[in-house]
Amino acid sequence: MQGAGARGETGVAPVTVVDHPLVQHKLTLMRDKARSTKGFRQLLNEVGMLLAYEVTRDLPLEPVEIETPMMTMQGAQIAGKKLVLAPILRAGVGFLDGMLSLLPSARVAHVGLYRDPDSLEAVEYYFKAPSDLGDRTVLVLDPMLATANSAVAAVDRLKERGARDLRFVCLLAAPEGLAKFQGSHPDVPVWTASIDSHLNEHGYILPGLGDAGDRMYGTR
Ligand code: PRP
Ligand code: URA
Repeated sequence: MQGAGARGETGVAPVTVVDHPLVQHKLTLMRDKARSTKGFRQLLNEVGMLLAYEVTRDLPLEPVEIETPMMTMQGAQIAGKKLVLAPILRAGVGFLDGMLSLLPSARVAHVGLYRDPDSLEAVEYYFKAPSDLGDRTVLVLDPMLATANSAVAAVDRLKERGARDLRFVCLLAAPEGLAKFQGSHPDVPVWTASIDSHLNEHGYILPGLGDAGDRMYGTR
């Protein structure tokens, strides 16, 4: 894992590039335009599971006393309330099953946003979240951080509803989007499998993988 900066030094939460070989291998398979809808969806699910492992690496533990069949011992469990997974519809849902397989008790918040194709502004069409967001760590999920308009709007909305401890998880990030996201939400760390080259004139990530929602659902 490569971390870029630490909040203590720069005032901005770090960006972590998850360079695990399995993640990088699966990402390359997903970038291939010949990958089927079924294959793309399955890979997104698998990468979701691997990213869940990385993004939860530093969660605090608390001691708990348990009885093994042999004796009493002090074990460790994750402290605090269950996490919230907050996929940005549609493509963020592609991470959900994989993440839930590692975090089966997590709560789920749905953030429905689409990107206006002309203005590239995020337009909200649905929002439903647990009422106690302020007591939980919230993982915001979207494979693509392009202009970051969607990510910024989603985090704005979750904060408005009380969330204070958020992490953003994506597959690909554009440098322009990362800069915008960190400028808007310097307290929210980012995990990504790649920082790509740049955005094209339509706000698509290059080299990228195309439209993640369309590739996942076979639409277009
Ligand atoms: C895509 C993607 C992100 C957004 C990223 O969603 O899943 O949510 O674009 O772009 P941005 O960083 O420039 O905002 P899209 O609006 O295509 O909706 P969809 O997931 O329903 O296809
Ligand atoms: N949304 C996508 O799905 N892909 C991009 O490259 C940019 C935004």
